[in-house]
Amino acid sequence: MHRDAQGLELTCASEEAAHAFDHVVEGYIGNRNDTSQRLNALLAADPDCPLAHVMRGAFTMGAFNANNMDFIGKCISDAQTLCSRASERERAHLSALEHWAAGDFDATMAVWEQICRQWPHDILAFRLHHFLGFWLGKPENLMANVEAVLPHWSRDLPGIGTIHACRAFAHEESGSYVIAEHAGFTAISIDPGDVWATHAIAHNYEMQGRRSEGLELLKALEKNWDGANNLLHHLWWHQALFHYDRREFDAVLHLYDNNFRNPDSPLTQQMPDLYIDV
Ligand SMILES: [Fe+2]
Repeated sequence: MHRDAQGLELTCASEEAAHAFDHVVEGYIGNRNDTSQRLNALLAADPDCPLAHVMRGAFTMGAFNANNMDFIGKCISDAQTLCSRASERERAHLSALEHWAAGDFDATMAVWEQICRQWPHDILAFRLHHFLGFWLGKPENLMANVEAVLPHWSRDLPGIGTIHACRAFAHEESGSYVIAEHAGFTAISIDPGDVWATHAIAHNYEMQGRRSEGLELLKALEKNWDGANNLLHHLWWHQALFHYDRREFDAVLHLYDNNFRNPDSPLTQQMPDLYIDV
């Protein structure tokens, strides 16, 4: 039996596949732009890894594009075929994806929460839960889940930065700005390129009218953003919001034209209809 970076049992063919799995998860939780290539590498190393097919379906669901549903159905049926030899935890991941694809968001969230209760080091379930709960506008669920898993984590466990980053966002969305700021900077101290933590602090500052600090933060951290996904456009949009609040409209339009709505940007070219830019 192989294990992932957090020590959980993983159904896969080899140590090489287990490392490839960790590389995918690290890419997903870190908002890396090459996450789908990492996933392809995992599928090449082990085409029969059940969670690889579940991740492919779940990541595709994350684009919230109805045109993807046939492809997601194929990911689900591939995972169903492979899940007879998968663990209880892996089968629960498939169950969450099935609920999600069927449009039952509450059931989806409940399965991920159950996984996090039983296996609090399951960073994939944790991050998917945070992702969907964010879009559903359920900060209380985000908060409850992160506070439930946090005591089980230590600073040397891979992925701990993501726990703090998500804690920052959950608390920001719930209005507890002091905890949010502390958690956000804890994540940044672990990885200055953590764009989700950066985003949480940007929200935190936006909500408090701390525009100059917000601009300083984003300008100071942007040198660490190489390789990040389209969330970068959203960070530039946040940067524009701070300028807008300061009535610096030339700076807003400059960011609009050159950064977050630049049709020639490689990130825009890659996914022209992704919704997160603005
Ligand atoms: Fe935002």
